[in-house]
Amino acid sequence: MKLYQAPLEGITTYIYRNALARHFGGADKYFAPFISPYEKIVISAKERAQLTPSHNEGIDLVPQILTMDAEGFLKLTHLLHEEYGYEEFNLNFGCPSGTVVSKGRGAGALKDLELLKEFLDRITDGFPYRLSVKTRVGFSDVGEWAALLDLYNRYSLSELIVHPRVGRQMYKGVPDMAAFEYALVNSRNPVVYNGDICTVDNKVIKSNTEINAIMIGRGMVANPAIFREIKGGSCPTGGELMDYMSDICEAYRVEFDSEINVLHKLKEIWVYMGPYVINRGGGSERDLKMLQKTRRLVEYKAHMRSLLSGLKST
Ligand SMILES: Cc1cc2nc3c(=O)[nH]c(=O)nc-3n(C[C@H](O)[C@H](O)[C@H](O)COP(=O)(O)O)c2cc1C
Repeated sequence: MKLYQAPLEGITTYIYRNALARHFGGADKYFAPFISPYEKIVISAKERAQLTPSHNEGIDLVPQILTMDAEGFLKLTHLLHEEYGYEEFNLNFGCPSGTVVSKGRGAGALKDLELLKEFLDRITDGFPYRLSVKTRVGFSDVGEWAALLDLYNRYSLSELIVHPRVGRQMYKGVPDMAAFEYALVNSRNPVVYNGDICTVDNKVIKSNTEINAIMIGRGMVANPAIFREIKGGSCPTGGELMDYMSDICEAYRVEFDSEINVLHKLKEIWVYMGPYVINRGGGSERDLKMLQKTRRLVEYKAHMRSLLSGLKST
């Protein structure tokens, strides 16, 4: 079973990917947070910095595209191939955010299967690269899943990444494992599981099914050694987490002039890593609150030390 890094907008930057790979061995494949084609600037300088191969050495990276504009999709994927050599692209039909859904994109694309078919027909006709899809199991109701899967079965996808919630759920409730099993049985494309894997004990990891790969997002931000643990390795020590977070901090300091921007990036990681660290006996809720409140890097570092110094080894 292969292990994939989920895309998390704002968190899984190239700096994050490199630190994860360097300190914890990383994932088999990394999915970049979504980008969308724009008419004038097909790809922005910020997006280029995230995707340029020189910032992703040794990392198997798949750019993710969020759009329902077939022409824009083709222009953007050709450009990413010509300039950076990408051979595989991922389509986002999972984003549940209101602003994305209201434009009929992300999970919003699942509301109208006729339109979705039209879009997929246009982009797959003669498409020379590998294409995977990351999808929810419907927009409003899981009853939509069978028809949606039938539609995906019309295309030859490198992978169908299934997050078994419907768009309207956002991240509420629990993944619908029956919907996922349905995909395993009925998909003609290789299936990847995504959703709520936070520990090695998760039953999707333990079950010996024909899952092609599993993709982990929030559970990986919480515990960056989760892939290593799944492969039989150890959980992260306080020292390892300290080195890893210090590395990320230094890299953002080179990228941003402002301390506040660096802190913002680090705090986003701590939203997930904080509860994990506290659970393992490292520091208190108060330390985490203080870390989230501070506007100075020197104070941030002191709170980080408090959080990580008491971490238990198992
Ligand atoms: C902060 C945040 C940003 C996300 N950004 C993206 C994104 O850019 N593209 C995408 O396909 N999914 C995005 N997701 C969804 C995740 O990739 C993943 O599907 C979801 O979190 C469920 O998996 P997990 O439980 O392993 O985190 C995002 C989720 C979060 C919480």
